[in-house]
Amino acid sequence: MVKDLSVELCGIRLKNPVVPASGTFGFGLELSDSLDLNVLGGISLKGTTREARYGNPTPRIADCPAGMLNAVGLQNPGIDVLVQEKVPALRKIYDGCVIANISGFSLDEYRHCCALADTCPGIDLIEVNISCPNVHGGGMAFGTSAAAAAEVTAAVKEVCRNKRIFIKLSPNVTDIVEIARACEDAGADGLTLVNTFLGMRIDIARRSPVLANKMGGYSGAGIFPIALRMVYQVAHACRIPVMGCGGVTCARDVIEMMMAGATAVQVGAENLRNPFVCPEIVEELPSLMEQLHIESLRDIIGTV
Ligand SMILES: Cc1cc2nc3c(=O)[nH]c(=O)nc-3n(C[C@H](O)[C@H](O)[C@H](O)COP(=O)(O)O)c2cc1C
Repeated sequence: MVKDLSVELCGIRLKNPVVPASGTFGFGLELSDSLDLNVLGGISLKGTTREARYGNPTPRIADCPAGMLNAVGLQNPGIDVLVQEKVPALRKIYDGCVIANISGFSLDEYRHCCALADTCPGIDLIEVNISCPNVHGGGMAFGTSAAAAAEVTAAVKEVCRNKRIFIKLSPNVTDIVEIARACEDAGADGLTLVNTFLGMRIDIARRSPVLANKMGGYSGAGIFPIALRMVYQVAHACRIPVMGCGGVTCARDVIEMMMAGATAVQVGAENLRNPFVCPEIVEELPSLMEQLHIESLRDIIGTV
């Protein structure tokens, strides 16, 4: 029996819900020689800022049990390169949902980048990252206060006429539902959650932090139950669609995220361990659906 894997995000049809998460799949182009990008429902591109950034000093990755710590610090070529070079090149080889991931250090920077992404024909959705734990003076600072999250949301909605806006939430908060509701009330079309958890490791021989940045964002399999809980809480509290993210490594995790309320599911750190994990999940889904008597993935969204 042919299974229906397709989902719809704010009127945009994805052939399946599997989306590599921002920062773990470059601009898609880097992997196009090794795998068929067109099996992916969507691709969330590397977080982009107004100016090009080299990111944080190294070491900026640390291995952890059941995941990794990263403090890449938004290394990217800048918004002009994204809209003029990366997206047009990706569009030539990819027909799925292209998601621009935008970061900023000020409201003005978020506005500037989103306005450019909004008029870029190859971009389908804009994901606004208010949750990067690895940069100072921006990123997560906007995502840990309901008022600031609402302010960013309203600011980018004001300049975007064409594209839907997903706000990407930080898990480093006491009450993620409060922040999610503030974004929804300020006009967000959808929410992505979660970004990484602020963490740290120490090199005991050197008696110093492993990361040059001292702290970084923890993600990977170890965060799955916490991310799932947050997706469940937010999806049940808000009316706008949710893209679930955090610790997803297999088809079973995708089904769990969708039962918790996610319409699409992003896969992050696992791409760095196994660059083929997303196509593998897409391939695994129909047989798992068969076992669970699921005909269409849309039928299971938020059923728990
Ligand atoms: C190396 C690395 C770089 C990341 N860069 C970004 C980024 O640029 N923008 C963003 O919104 N999230 C970024 N993230 C967060 C992921 O998109 C994702 O939200 C998070 O890692 C949780 O998912 P996971 O547990 O599957 O990794 C990055 C994560 C990693 C591991």
